[in-house]
Amino acid sequence: MTPHPVPLAPGPTNGGPPAARSLRVLVTGGAGYVGSHVAWALAESGHAVTVFDDLSEGHRRAVQGLPLVKGDILDGRALDRAFAQSRAEAVVHMAAKCLVGESVTRPDLYWRHNVIGSLTVLAAMQRASVPLMVFSSSAAVYGEPDEAVIEETAPRRPCNPYGRTKLVFEEALAEHAAAGLVQYVALRYFNAAGARPGGFGEQHAVETHLLPNLLTAALSGGQRPLQVFGTDYPTPDGTAVRDYVHVEDLAAAHVRALGYLSTGGASTAVNLGTGRGHSIREVLAAARAVTGRAFPSEDAPRRPGDPARLVASNALARAVLGWRPTRSLEEIIASAWRWHSRRAAARRRASRDVAAPASPVRAVPMSAERRARRRGRQAAA
Ligand SMILES: NC(=O)c1ccc[n+]([C@@H]2O[C@H](COP(=O)([O-])OP(=O)(O)OC[C@H]3O[C@@H](n4cnc5c(N)ncnc54)[C@H](O)[C@@H]3O)[C@@H](O)[C@H]2O)c1
Repeated sequence: MTPHPVPLAPGPTNGGPPAARSLRVLVTGGAGYVGSHVAWALAESGHAVTVFDDLSEGHRRAVQGLPLVKGDILDGRALDRAFAQSRAEAVVHMAAKCLVGESVTRPDLYWRHNVIGSLTVLAAMQRASVPLMVFSSSAAVYGEPDEAVIEETAPRRPCNPYGRTKLVFEEALAEHAAAGLVQYVALRYFNAAGARPGGFGEQHAVETHLLPNLLTAALSGGQRPLQVFGTDYPTPDGTAVRDYVHVEDLAAAHVRALGYLSTGGASTAVNLGTGRGHSIREVLAAARAVTGRAFPSEDAPRRPGDPARLVASNALARAVLGWRPTRSLEEIIASAWRWHSRRAAARRRASRDVAAPASPVRAVPMSAERRARRRGRQAAA
């Protein structure tokens, strides 16, 4: 396994953003959940963003106001055109297939999109002489960790094809970087959650994440209890522990990673998490407190391949990128709740409009002639 290059020079540690000039950036997968937050954060930091997305999971509306090229990362020509059109100087590469369960039943899709697709992006960058990439990697590269808090040097032993494809592309990046072909930061996200005000929250066609499922079930009035998979883990309350990081905090890390690279930072891979884990029962309790809803739950057996605890050390992200997460679990839940509530209300309005029968009487504007006749009748009366 190729070791990751360590940064040659640490970035600023004072919490301020690394000095960076404004860049033209192509954001693959930028119409998706995390991608749209990253695209807006980059644009608001003064970068010129072009989104490249096949809209298989993404939403045009999520990036309305930003240039969007609809295309597939497997299509090298489409990428060439996007590079020519955007005159990109850097890439934030987020386009991917992202469902762990699906990756087990359809590994072909994951190797194709996440590995061949990502290599196609890298090759197009070389053709366009674009040297900088920020890559969306994942905590899934670690698999079942030995440590309570995971450092970047922990063994990488992914336990599903999704994690393996992320790791393989990280390794491809490391070898390209060693050959001087790219300069990159791989960001290993832990559990992204929440939404920015006015942004596009998390709701995929097949949603597997705890918070969106919890909140949408509550809003649809469903009384079906949430299944808590595994209550006999070696954790304080027996349920699985995860590190939830607000998607706006994640987005801010991308801005910093780009600043770091553009000021000569060496290629590296860093965790993005809060360093604090929350069990499923803690998330349920926080969701009840934030929303005032009951959230009934029932215990269910463990799911295969679900580690007991995934919590990031974010010391490297702090040291190298000057990044630190700023939002609590309660803020994450409150922002997701606002987004899901607004979305549910919009859906209810839309279904009422469809259900309402059209009026049999159509209001037709009165002609000037008719108005004059009517005035005459009223005067005569
Ligand atoms: N959400 C998380 O908690 C999390 C955690 C770890 C890593 N990640 C990584 O972050 C990235 C974004 O995840 P997300 O949760 O926003 O998922 P998402 O599905 O909302 O976003 C992925 C985007 O990529 C696009 N896309 C997929 N295949 C494409 C292709 N072949 N060509 C062009 N566009 C394509 C989709 O349309 C979508 O807009 C992914 O790389 C994912 O692996 C996410």
